[in-house]
Amino acid sequence: MKKIKILFSKSKFPKLKKFSANSENFFKARIKNSDFKIKNGGVFANFDRKNNYSILTHLGTNEYDFNDLQNLGAKGVRKAIGFQGEDDIEINLMFEQNFSREERKFIEKGALMAEMKDDWYKSKEKNAKKSGTIEIKGVITKNLRELVEAINIAREIQSKPSNKITPVTLEEYIKKNIDKKEFGLKITYHQQDFLGKEKMGLFLAVNQGSKDRAKMIQFEYNGGKKGEAPVVLIGKGLTYDSGGYYMKGYPHMNEMNGDMGGAATVIGIMASLKKLGIKKNVVGIIGVTENMVDANSYKNGDILTARNGKTVYVGHTDAEGRLVLADCLSYADDTFKPKMIFDFATLTGSCHHSLGEMYTGIFSDDKKLLDKIEELGRKTNDLCRQLPFDKRIKEAVKHKQADLSNVGKFKFMGAGEAAAFLSNFVKDTKKWVHCDIAGTGIRETQKQDYDLPNSFGTGTMITLMTEFLKK
Ligand code: BES
Ligand code: ZN
Ligand code: ZN
Repeated sequence: MKKIKILFSKSKFPKLKKFSANSENFFKARIKNSDFKIKNGGVFANFDRKNNYSILTHLGTNEYDFNDLQNLGAKGVRKAIGFQGEDDIEINLMFEQNFSREERKFIEKGALMAEMKDDWYKSKEKNAKKSGTIEIKGVITKNLRELVEAINIAREIQSKPSNKITPVTLEEYIKKNIDKKEFGLKITYHQQDFLGKEKMGLFLAVNQGSKDRAKMIQFEYNGGKKGEAPVVLIGKGLTYDSGGYYMKGYPHMNEMNGDMGGAATVIGIMASLKKLGIKKNVVGIIGVTENMVDANSYKNGDILTARNGKTVYVGHTDAEGRLVLADCLSYADDTFKPKMIFDFATLTGSCHHSLGEMYTGIFSDDKKLLDKIEELGRKTNDLCRQLPFDKRIKEAVKHKQADLSNVGKFKFMGAGEAAAFLSNFVKDTKKWVHCDIAGTGIRETQKQDYDLPNSFGTGTMITLMTEFLKK
């Protein structure tokens, strides 16, 4: 067992007494020699003869935000894991006094998130080494471990490739890992025949090219008063999105195993509720299928009929997510009479281009609600931004041959048009928030230290939503 101490610091003169005398002197000398520039911060390690591993993790003295703190926590832990070798390690998080509780929370969160490994498919035989366990001590934020566990479930299922997580194996995964007493959920696995009975013509059209049958998985959590209207969460669960006949090209298709990020977020939220003691009724629904090319696939120019009776012209087979979500939204609205509906989807490249990989695009007809979500985003580091959603954008998804088209008329308004399309499938668009996580749910180029080392699942919006549901 290796014991590793990490000190988190932000002062001009870090207080190094918590380390062994050897490490203390080592760091002092380095700071004095300016090998380690306090102003810029960074991570510095010492390993002394008495087998003490010490890591000084400094925030720097420049301005900082919650994301910097979360990154700092992760940097320290990643450095510590670098010392692991074949051993078990115990990492002790130590803090200077001048961090507030809230600041500490973000450091701890980054630290816990950085502990997760994503080397699921590396053959271990090559180096024949079994990696040891990692234990992180010194986390004082209540329920933080439970939250990060839920985030990690989301990160894992989203990051795994499409031949490992298929509609069939995703159901198996949920049955094995989440359909357990400790999560306090009633889970219903609606199979394709059910979708047929519900006349979910849009969802089923997307599924036509897939070798697996579509399914809609429903999670019910009753933490609130009996009979109280639930908050419903809907997730886009495309285990693969090839684009269909309007096929995606290289390299954009390669990450489309991640097109179930919305479903992963919903699963993550649902998996956290009981453990966080949330006192609300919450329903999660994920629409699970693949968008594939086959003789049976739906085609451009097809006209489909939705569950709510509206007809839809298929302008683009790659705009499949909104078709799946539309039928799930109308089902949820009719079945649960929700107090509120949120949907989460890796929905548009347009949102990705507008907001990058750090901001989720949010849409609703309730401006106050959006302001509240944005504010919660700042507080939780699940950053969000409202994007335009006006009557002209809503008009742009109408079609001459059918009620709607799944692509809009404008050249550059893709994210808004997707939201506009979805708004036709909820009764009260003031009680509904659409969250486009195309950027934040598949983070690759703006990678953060707390992100997975080799894959892209982020578990975005889980922290924000658990805070929302606590209130
Ligand atoms: N899953 C994609 C959106 C996406 C793109 C997510 C990149 C993450 C990263 C979605 O199904 C899609 O292909 N959307 C199209 C819609 C267009 C054809 C109207 C898009 O945004 O390009
Ligand atoms: Zn698509
Ligand atoms: Zn998609």
